[in-house]
Amino acid sequence: MNKKTVLTILNKKQIGEKITMLTCYDYVTARLISSQDIDVLLVGDSLGNVKLGYENTLSVTVDDMIYHTKSVKRGNGGALLVTDMPFMSYEITVESAVGNAARIIKESGAEAVKVEGGIEIIDKVKAIVDTKVPVVGHLGLTPQAINKFGGFKVQGRTEEARRKMISDAVALEEAGVFSIVLEAVPEQLAKEITERLKIPTIGIGAGRYCDGQVLVIDDMLGLFPDFTPKFVKKYASIGEIIKTAVNNYINEVKEGKFPQEENIYK
Ligand code: KIV
Repeated sequence: MNKKTVLTILNKKQIGEKITMLTCYDYVTARLISSQDIDVLLVGDSLGNVKLGYENTLSVTVDDMIYHTKSVKRGNGGALLVTDMPFMSYEITVESAVGNAARIIKESGAEAVKVEGGIEIIDKVKAIVDTKVPVVGHLGLTPQAINKFGGFKVQGRTEEARRKMISDAVALEEAGVFSIVLEAVPEQLAKEITERLKIPTIGIGAGRYCDGQVLVIDDMLGLFPDFTPKFVKKYASIGEIIKTAVNNYINEVKEGKFPQEENIYK
């Protein structure tokens, strides 16, 4: 399988081929997903919800991101490896944004970082891009702004919010990001942004016209029971398979049916 790079992703928009991205947080899953020729593995700070059991992503640290990315890196076949910069690791000063991006790239082996926000963080985005670290933007329902939004709500519904999101997208492209994730955005607005930009958009709850799609792996596999947004399609019910397997194991141990002859050293 060919190694996917930033150029692969940019080129896909040019040739009209959809980009596929999934989140990933560990070695085994990285091996499984990347064996299927996925374009991008995103070590999302959603790991705060689905792996660490936090209510939101705000407590996730740079060290958490590095720890999980190292694990994914070891299992990754050829996907482009992108890691989220967690809350407050890039918003405060240009220096700390560049320093944290450098730590993530150097210590984890990620090939790009993703940041949430538009014009308000544009100086930090430019500075990271200037240090030769590829950056993915993220607009719409940016989960690190959950307290500002007052919940998980579709963004860009008013005319003012629509215009602001378009300006943010253009500013991010001018600052040098190579792609933008659009989360929980009305389909028509995502379409307008996608048509306006030369760089690809990757949608999650942003409809059919984005240049690619991303889902949280635990959601699409039916592993995360707490909350399933409308935009998620469940491609499997692995949670149910795990429960049945564990239940069978418990019963067989209790009944003396496991281990059997073939599981014993003679
Ligand atoms: O953290 C994450 O998983 C993300 C995706 C939802 C795009 O940012």
